[in-house]
Amino acid sequence: MHLKYSFFILCAAFMVGCNESAVTEESPEGTQPYTALRSVAPFPVGVAVQSGRLGAAVHSGVVRTVFNSVTAEYEMKMQHLTDASGNFIWSPADALIAFAKEHDMQIHGHTLVWHQSTPAWLANFGGTDAEFEDAVRDYITTVVTRYKEDVVSWDVINEAFEDGTGALRNSVFRRRMGPDYIARLFQYTRAADPDVLLFYNDYGTIWDAAKRDSMFAMVDDLQSRGIPIDGIGLQMHITHTFPALQNIVEVMDAMVQRGLKIHISEMDVRVNPEGDLLVLTDARSQLQKKRVSEIAAAFMDLPEEYRFAITWWGLRDPESWLIDFWGNPEWGLLFNAEYQPKPAYEGFLEALTGRG
Ligand code: XIL
Repeated sequence: MHLKYSFFILCAAFMVGCNESAVTEESPEGTQPYTALRSVAPFPVGVAVQSGRLGAAVHSGVVRTVFNSVTAEYEMKMQHLTDASGNFIWSPADALIAFAKEHDMQIHGHTLVWHQSTPAWLANFGGTDAEFEDAVRDYITTVVTRYKEDVVSWDVINEAFEDGTGALRNSVFRRRMGPDYIARLFQYTRAADPDVLLFYNDYGTIWDAAKRDSMFAMVDDLQSRGIPIDGIGLQMHITHTFPALQNIVEVMDAMVQRGLKIHISEMDVRVNPEGDLLVLTDARSQLQKKRVSEIAAAFMDLPEEYRFAITWWGLRDPESWLIDFWGNPEWGLLFNAEYQPKPAYEGFLEALTGRG
């Protein structure tokens, strides 16, 4: 990307607070300054980042000027924080955390336990079940303690329930630690840091009734036993048409009734679920804008103490996990390939500022 262009984008993203001399830089045709989300949102607005991408000035510039919260897209998962033998690998996560601190961004930890990120040293653990549990507890204690001053919240466990049945997934954690393992994961995390906020994070809890029931039954059970849980991450991997806003509102209300903080985590809005588009059309882009705006408005309607954050699962469309995962061209995020805010960005801003 042309240097002058990148420089303008940085300043544009930082309209509030960009210094005068920077704004006098000639703007490329068609680009307009825009308002940073972090300057107007009454709650943290986050983005998933990969530390390797922060070396590009334009990338890190937009991240730090637009957002005030970060989540590691993968570098704080078990399979990345440890090698196959269980030795810790800290540098990528440390780099990300240093970046966030330098730019006054909140850090959400994702995720202590996830069946899809089980390292070999646990998958093939040779000791007894009690030793397995000790190893998991030590892992949690080490990681949570290391980032105690920096990470405000952790996804303690990600995606523990099966689609369709809501049964506990038959992960190595479930097999080795028994059916009450989730409760103990929350206890171990709380023991390592009395102040960090503890989240359960999952997808499908909006449209999959069995999974949703299991999740709330788990929450009710933890709460009835005095086991700490502070909030739920509602993975917002949705499309421009599905699920209905009403269903999203209902599940958020059920969280509020339980006193849980709500993290709209992992947000992206697919606009090509049928694979009919080869390029993003204006019409689809406007539908995406409307969708983003209505969800942000519903979040704004929640009582303040329950609005933990909204986190976007990536910065620019071409970097999104959606493309590999679904195998279609996709444009699910707020920024296009040129780091330009899309109509969806305007829709988000409008909802945050009450102009929607
Ligand atoms: C994905 C990341 O986006 C990818 O970069 C990584 O390779 C695999 O994981 N639900 C989650 C996230 O909780 O951690 C996943 O992130 C996307 C689905």
